[in-house]
Amino acid sequence: PVPLIIDTDTAQDDCVALLAGLLDPGADLRAITMVAGNVGFERQVRNAFLTLSAAGRLGEVPVHLGCRRPMVRPWISAEDVHGDGAGGLSMDDADLSTEDEHAVDALVRMAAENPGELSVVAIGPLTNIAMATVKDPDFARNVKALYVMGGSNNGRGNITAAAEFNFYVDPEAAKTVFEAGFAVTVVPWDPLTLRQAVFGEERLKEIAALGTPLSDFFTRVCAATLEFDRSVGIDGTTHPDSLTAAVLLRPDLVRTSSRYNVDVETAGELTRGYSAMSWGVHGLEPNAEVVEEVDADGFFAYIKGLLSTPTTPS
Ligand code: BDR
Ligand code: CA
Repeated sequence: PVPLIIDTDTAQDDCVALLAGLLDPGADLRAITMVAGNVGFERQVRNAFLTLSAAGRLGEVPVHLGCRRPMVRPWISAEDVHGDGAGGLSMDDADLSTEDEHAVDALVRMAAENPGELSVVAIGPLTNIAMATVKDPDFARNVKALYVMGGSNNGRGNITAAAEFNFYVDPEAAKTVFEAGFAVTVVPWDPLTLRQAVFGEERLKEIAALGTPLSDFFTRVCAATLEFDRSVGIDGTTHPDSLTAAVLLRPDLVRTSSRYNVDVETAGELTRGYSAMSWGVHGLEPNAEVVEEVDADGFFAYIKGLLSTPTTPS
């Protein structure tokens, strides 16, 4: 199994990505690290534990609390998109047993203990990952591979015309990460997720028809985002984060990817968080692999397979 850490702002599809880490027999999820992003920090923590519980794995994977705001800017929420991020599900505070060690320390320590072995799937703003490179100059080298959900491949943003949410919230962190020397693979919002990882009505019906506790969990967790997506003309639920986990765990689902130079705008008024993804531009050396096309049906089958897993919520 692939040893990995998932760094997450847990709401909606972050939960589905966690399910991939928790239920795919090819995954060995060593830790969940939490970063400020989608919804209130405490609520995100609860959403992560709700996901552990739905997967029947409560108490089995350490959850470390990380940075509570971006490196230099105030936090911005996506509660208008995700509601509370888990469809109103609740859980006893007593079940939220988090680790004492800060997420940045845990990332640095675990990568240093296993140099060249651990992959990190980063599906929220990149604050924790950037701070880990600030704390330990060897962090990028110690991580085997970093998988980032963020940016757009010179296409549409989703929080502004120019920017995707994760890069917009902490552009300084995103820029830091692309300059840090990671072996990094990027799963961008547009065109990849927006066109190839959307589950429309037929697929959502197929998932609901599974009738498992996990398919109910999925439907509930994705309900608010589905409503939001439809309000902005997207015909279904979007799955950027679980696609990012799948790119690591099921590389056979990637049809094409290319080497790009990726840089992130931190200064622009209208372009804050814009990801410049270039290839073949004189003087710009490639620093990232950008996924361009996936097997969309295969990805849906993968998620459906995970949600078919018979679990006893713990
Ligand atoms: C990203 O932003 C969040 O709303 C999602 O969880 C995803 O990581 C998409 O732009
Ligand atoms: Ca996310």
